[in-house]
Amino acid sequence: MVERRGEGIKQEALKEEKLPTDRDHLPTQMGVEFIIRFYRLFKGATIYDQKNFIIERLTQDCLQNAQEILKSDKQLIIKIVRDNLFFNNIRIQMKADKYAILRAFLLEMRKRWIGELELMEGVKIEDLKDFIYLLIKLEENVESNYLYMKKQLETRGLKVFNVGKLEAYKDEEIYVDSEDRKRYSKEVYFKSINLVKEVMEGVKSQKMLNTRKAKRLMQNAVNAIIQDESTLLGLANIKNYDDYTFNHSVNVAIYAIALGQRAGIPKKHLSHLGMAGLFHDIGKTRIPKEILNKSGKLTAEEWSVMRLHSLLGTEIVMNMKDWGELSTRLVDGTFEHHLKYDLTGYPRLTRKKKISLYGRIIALADFYDALVRPRVYNRFPFVSEKILGFMLERSGKDFDPVLVKIFVNMLGIFPLGTLVLMNTNEMGIVVQTSEDTDLIDRPKVCLLYYSDGDYRKGEIVDLREVDERTRDFRRTIVKTLDPNEYNINVAEFLM
Ligand SMILES: [Fe+2]
Ligand SMILES: [Fe+2]
Repeated sequence: MVERRGEGIKQEALKEEKLPTDRDHLPTQMGVEFIIRFYRLFKGATIYDQKNFIIERLTQDCLQNAQEILKSDKQLIIKIVRDNLFFNNIRIQMKADKYAILRAFLLEMRKRWIGELELMEGVKIEDLKDFIYLLIKLEENVESNYLYMKKQLETRGLKVFNVGKLEAYKDEEIYVDSEDRKRYSKEVYFKSINLVKEVMEGVKSQKMLNTRKAKRLMQNAVNAIIQDESTLLGLANIKNYDDYTFNHSVNVAIYAIALGQRAGIPKKHLSHLGMAGLFHDIGKTRIPKEILNKSGKLTAEEWSVMRLHSLLGTEIVMNMKDWGELSTRLVDGTFEHHLKYDLTGYPRLTRKKKISLYGRIIALADFYDALVRPRVYNRFPFVSEKILGFMLERSGKDFDPVLVKIFVNMLGIFPLGTLVLMNTNEMGIVVQTSEDTDLIDRPKVCLLYYSDGDYRKGEIVDLREVDERTRDFRRTIVKTLDPNEYNINVAEFLM
């Protein structure tokens, strides 16, 4: 098997996919800094009123940055075209570490149908505050918002700003409404589970795989993740399903797509990555049930059979016809997903070579999802923070260090669905992770309260909130708790 693979690998190595680096200083750097400050101010304005000291500080921060840009570039225009941001007409490359916050900004503007923002010379602190509060008060999903904004700016004499309409494209499915987006994401998730079931059962009875359907579904998953990462990551993070194998495959696909997107893999290839995730464990269909579902510890011999699944899977994938360029990537995912970054792991290689980017991504996603959930031979699920910690520790040995960094940033220290205890003695469930890497430990949390023998949904609070008197954070997470111990079904709170 390893030998047969050799040729394909060589060819693939020629067009080796590389992660973007920080080598080149981008002309859009200043724009990125501005958007981050602008977005922080924007978010602040949704929590605090205009006279709050935090708003004062955030506005000053943003203004200073804007003035620097205006001084050097003579203009400050941010544009949104499809999934891209432009700063003074140059496209911004969304690097992994800034990805979440730029994305969040883009979505907020899109929701309000604002496609262009311009700040001009002479802008003052009070002007900027007025502008921000106008912007946050815009109703969502109203196409004519930009006209309303223009009028408001005019009547208030705010001549230093301009806004433009978001250009929509016919072929693009934009779900502006967050409930629609959630529904779409859920549909994709459960359809994918059914597909994996179908495929795995099909493989057992030697049926041909329905690859076209899988490809289409993964394209939908890519669209869903680009528009609303949190619902699909949330679904992947809920760990109380019964059908381990099917859920696991879909979860790996989701983590892989989300990770690949942040690592800079082009959109058109992300669905391949999703498929590689869906089918990485397909070899398990050839492992005897007694071993696969054994509840006790596996013997050494049983382990050696179990370990065959990546080779068996590779064989299944290689025997599929009409996959075209896709097949190399799928083979990589299946063959390499238990190989480590330093080439230890299994299957043992007869020749040393680098693990492909797809293989490294699937390996990471697989490791995380396999450990974080309860399963037959993993009685005590690890808390996600422990696994992320472990991954950081093993970064460079077991895992690609760049990918680990991106992954931890993506999930946050407290991923969606984590049950947490705060310094106020309140309990809560993480319902939205922070886009800001500086405040990665300050997600949004749904508070829980206990009544009639059950935990119930309370208010949703933002842990970035600061107490005006003490000027300290209102709530801080002190530790994570195991939802099973408290009989809490996380899914109910997340969806
Ligand atoms: Fe596996
Ligand atoms: Fe797996």
